Amino acid sequence: MAKISKKDAKSRIEQLSNELREHNHNYYVNNSPTISDFEYDLMMQELSELERRFPEFLLPDSPTQVVGSDIVKSDVSSPKSFKQAKHKYPMLSLGNTYNMEEIYAFDQRISSALDSDYSYSCELKFDGTAICLTYKNGELVQALTRGDGQIGDDVIQNVLTIPSIPKHLKGDDFPVEFEIRGEIFMPYSAFDQLNSERAEIGEPLFANPRNAAAGSLKLLDSEEVRSRKLDAVFYHLLGENLPYTTHYEQLEAVKSWGLPVSEHSQICHSIDQVESYLVKWDSARKELPYATDGVVIKLNQIEPRESLGYTSKSPRWATAYKFKAERALTKILSVDYQIGRTGVITPVANLEPVLLSGTVVKRATLHNEDQMNILDIHEGDSVYIEKGGEIIPKIIEVELSQRVPNAQKVTFPTLCPDCETPLVKEEDDARYFCPNSDGCYSQIKERFVHFASRKAMNILAGDSTFEQLIKKLNVKQLSDLYHLTKEQLLTLDSWKDRSAERFLKSIEESKDREFYRVLYSLGIRQIGESTAKLLTSHFKTIDAIAAASLEELVEIDEIGDIVAQSIIDYFSNDKNIKLITALKEIGLQFEEKNSAEKVLSEALLGKNIVISGNFSKPREEMKKLIVLHGGKSLSSISSKTDYLLSGTKSGPEKLRKAEQLGIEIITETQFFEMIK
Ligand code: IVH
Repeated sequence: MAKISKKDAKSRIEQLSNELREHNHNYYVNNSPTISDFEYDLMMQELSELERRFPEFLLPDSPTQVVGSDIVKSDVSSPKSFKQAKHKYPMLSLGNTYNMEEIYAFDQRISSALDSDYSYSCELKFDGTAICLTYKNGELVQALTRGDGQIGDDVIQNVLTIPSIPKHLKGDDFPVEFEIRGEIFMPYSAFDQLNSERAEIGEPLFANPRNAAAGSLKLLDSEEVRSRKLDAVFYHLLGENLPYTTHYEQLEAVKSWGLPVSEHSQICHSIDQVESYLVKWDSARKELPYATDGVVIKLNQIEPRESLGYTSKSPRWATAYKFKAERALTKILSVDYQIGRTGVITPVANLEPVLLSGTVVKRATLHNEDQMNILDIHEGDSVYIEKGGEIIPKIIEVELSQRVPNAQKVTFPTLCPDCETPLVKEEDDARYFCPNSDGCYSQIKERFVHFASRKAMNILAGDSTFEQLIKKLNVKQLSDLYHLTKEQLLTLDSWKDRSAERFLKSIEESKDREFYRVLYSLGIRQIGESTAKLLTSHFKTIDAIAAASLEELVEIDEIGDIVAQSIIDYFSNDKNIKLITALKEIGLQFEEKNSAEKVLSEALLGKNIVISGNFSKPREEMKKLIVLHGGKSLSSISSKTDYLLSGTKSGPEKLRKAEQLGIEIITETQFFEMIK
């Protein structure tokens, strides 16, 4: 890794942590990731490497230390959610690599730690969503999602709709109580059917079967889950005093009780056999009727697993070898330049249609000018494409042997393809922007589309409605939407009484959307849904967010310099302040409502508390408790701090600073005493 100054390392760590948290939220909660697993793993690797070199910036809640959480929090708009329960054994993740050398290194570590013979169980890594079932006396009693690894959502009602999961076990030799972990997945056939049904009714599509499976499992309507045709496979048995000495025996037993296990697992007695298995399945998986993203290699012998132990996130006795995403070769027909809501210009190639991982692909992103130059795209080039996290795949490489002689290089435009304003580039940013934010039709339309989207204001309108509103009714500002009349709407193409009324009702209803959704809908750069939630629960009102200084913003755990600066920039622009004032007058929610959950007591009213170390509950929960009892949870110690809540393995730096400033250090027990 290149040389990097301490200051740059700190800000890169913050940036990576923030982005990874947002990606965790997109992946685990929204089931709609925006980057590929490979890109995610690269970011995670870079973060781990920086934290290794600069351990002073390693925080206990860094994304490298905690698993992403899939817990669905209930909120005012959808108060129903799942019952949560604590995992009896923490539900960990796996270390992973794309590189055979690291598999050899993994084997080296195992072989030097063990002094007896051993073997590996090699298994397909199913690309679905993890589930942990509990059976008592042969009956399914609980089905927990991974959650944050410690606490999961109990989705048993949904799990019971999956035909391959038995409610009652077969035979009589199962342990009285045990847990079995596995993966719930959606076969390609069910995925294709679901997406084509969604396309027909204009619902957003799932990018891949994993997201569809995870999204389906979290539906509140079990009958809807049944229609999603989910399937399952189990691979990890847990319980007290189980009589098995190998993983293989465990899986055989699990199978005999009627639970589905993979028929493609294989015991390998040497690392060469492991390699053959990896090579075989890297291509054979393309023939499987479901998605897999790698192979899991587990030490087959159970007893020595314990001595190998665990890192904070994963066991040392197992690892995953991940497959690189599938690729396809096709031809570029033309390149379009899309204009985003913040004016960013993204080049997108139109392709000769080609089949890739079960779906026909017609378009691929080229990201930005730098990427086009790196790829050296020429007109009519044949290119390799790959699926990332998004629905739209990306171009990875040009097949130079197929370049047409004298083909012209594709050059990035200098003018906005819509309003013809000269494009600008900001320092340290590879992207071009159209600066005409108030006059560029495409930008205005995209702002409306984002504002109206389901997770934002959820207004019943799409591209074509906004096109007409902007072009025919001169709607420009988001606030203009709330002044539209039925008479005006009836002048639009093919609008009738009913469509106008439905639209106006939906606009009216949007006034009740919670504050964090309103904040997210404003489309502030860097502010995704989870950052919006963080900001609203910390500051409570838009005025407090607007008045916050850079220092106050970065005080919040999970908010770094880049996000903080973007917030400051947004609120220093008069146009944005005018927009917020107009939306406030209309009656949109710009304050956290005092719901019953929001305040439990005033025991910590006005107290600034910094937490450090590990606790009996996840840190997020501890922070939430501080807020629920009227306090503020801050990330660094200053003279304004009232208490340092110190758990086990508390940061020595924080303890020292607290002592220096004479700040009271409290233990978990004292904390619970205070909020009792
Ligand atoms: S074993 C402690 N085996 O991959 C070991 N996991 O990235 C627990 N997965 O959390 C996991 N197929 O959700 C295991 N054959 C398999 C798997 C598998 C898919 C998932 C699982 C796990 C994740 C790790």
